[in-house]
Amino acid sequence: MHSLAVLLPLISLTIPLVKAQGATCNVTTKCPETAPCCSEFGFCGTTEAFCLGGCNPLYSSKLDSCLPNPICKSSFHSFANNDRVQSNSSHWDGNATLYDFVVNNGNIMNTGANGGELAMLLTKENGGTRLSTTRYLHYGIVTARMKTGRWGGVVTAFITMSDVKDEIDWEFPGNSTTEGQSNYFWQGVVTQPNHGAVSQVNGDTFGDYHDYTIDWQPEQLRWLIDGKVVRTLKKSDVLTDGVSQYPTTPSRIQFSLWPAGVASSAAGTVQWAGGLINYDDPDYRSAGHFYALLKSVNITCADPVKPSADITGYKYGANSSTNTPSVALTNLTTNINAAAPGVVGRSVEGIRTMLAVLIVAGVFGQLI
Ligand SMILES: *[C@@H]1O[C@H](CO)[C@@H](O)[C@H](O)[C@H]1NC(C)=O
Ligand SMILES: *[C@@H]1O[C@H](CO)[C@@H](O)[C@H](O)[C@H]1NC(C)=O
Ligand SMILES: *[C@@H]1O[C@H](CO)[C@@H](O)[C@H](O)[C@H]1NC(C)=O
Ligand SMILES: *[C@@H]1O[C@H](CO)[C@@H](O)[C@H](O)[C@H]1NC(C)=O
Ligand SMILES: *[C@@H]1O[C@H](CO)[C@@H](O)[C@H](O)[C@H]1NC(C)=O
Ligand SMILES: *[C@@H]1O[C@H](CO)[C@@H](O)[C@H](O)[C@H]1NC(C)=O
Ligand SMILES: *[C@@H]1O[C@H](CO)[C@@H](O)[C@H](O)[C@H]1NC(C)=O
Repeated sequence: MHSLAVLLPLISLTIPLVKAQGATCNVTTKCPETAPCCSEFGFCGTTEAFCLGGCNPLYSSKLDSCLPNPICKSSFHSFANNDRVQSNSSHWDGNATLYDFVVNNGNIMNTGANGGELAMLLTKENGGTRLSTTRYLHYGIVTARMKTGRWGGVVTAFITMSDVKDEIDWEFPGNSTTEGQSNYFWQGVVTQPNHGAVSQVNGDTFGDYHDYTIDWQPEQLRWLIDGKVVRTLKKSDVLTDGVSQYPTTPSRIQFSLWPAGVASSAAGTVQWAGGLINYDDPDYRSAGHFYALLKSVNITCADPVKPSADITGYKYGANSSTNTPSVALTNLTTNINAAAPGVVGRSVEGIRTMLAVLIVAGVFGQLI
């Protein structure tokens, strides 16, 4: 049995379960000026955990309270080692020249000796692993060459997620290794009917590497497997009551292995994920964890307005069409320490909140 545990030591990451303090923020209640940034988990604050990746401009004190989203850069990542991955998210300051990915939660390792593979781990204790790009994508093509998990209740995901919860998904519930599920959300809205779709994979998603692609363009979204288009969504098809329910905002690319099949999940989520996780599984016993493997990530930006060399990021502005915020290029810094010297924050919200967000935004749409 292929066991990752013997290949390289685990990068152990103790997750700081610091409880977020202060006000909560949501669609009706914005953050106060004294704690202006609304974190992706809906808490107000002033530090990294609030004002960087995931900071929701619509729920923050002002549209520009969050730091700008670091600008897209076309790139190919083959994970010869994990040098470009910041594995401690509390050290992430927003300077995207230093790191390509940040581990938001959980543990990673690398099988570099065998050619380079980033492994995301799930243990009984770590509550799952989530990795985000440090830069944002504002349209473009992303291909991930990956192997998924294969255990009931364990979900592998490759998604794009914006700070206002525009989302495009590839998800792999662990009890089936012959299919991938595609989905999308507009500003976190779970519209009816369910717009998830299932596509067959020619081969085994656990046993073999396959290429999963999200091709996100301003007028059309396509999902591909091994270079073949398996689903197409046109922006013009999702116009509802004058609102185009189509992802339009800059997004982080995220990879995760997460425990959907746990007793605290909604019954429908557990069923969707393929049952409750069995930590007595022989794979778990021999490796000490469940895992999913990333061989490479290929990012090709397709910004509607080509950024000039001095552009550092994306910022939100007034709505450009009905209920759709505008996105502009900016040369302001994305580094929180540069923006506010002396402000150093170390607060990171807990895994449970992360899962709640994933479940609401990413999975719940499968169930209704
Ligand atoms: C991550 O960084 C924080 C802040 O410097 C530190 O307290 C914590 O111990 C670090 N975690 C690990 C696993 O190194
Ligand atoms: C928004 O947050 C406020 C303050 O915490 C709370 O009273 C309200 O119920 C929340 N609204 C929604 C829609 O969650
Ligand atoms: C970001 O990091 C690079 C490389 O260390 C450094 O040259 C640059 O000054 C940093 N930028 C900011 C805004 O801190
Ligand atoms: C996965 O689990 C779901 C829900 O429990 C079940 O309907 C489905 O048949 C299972 N698929 C496989 C391949 O076992
Ligand atoms: C990355 O993707 C782009 C766009 O699909 C493609 O043109 C390019 O050849 C790919 N690069 C690699 C190294 O696969
Ligand atoms: C702008 O769009 C947001 C949703 O993105 C919506 O909540 C808000 O009401 C809109 N504002 C105006 C003035 O239309
Ligand atoms: C940043 O943009 C502003 C306004 O667009 C411009 O006036 C300024 O010269 C730019 N700064 C740099 C360093 O390019």
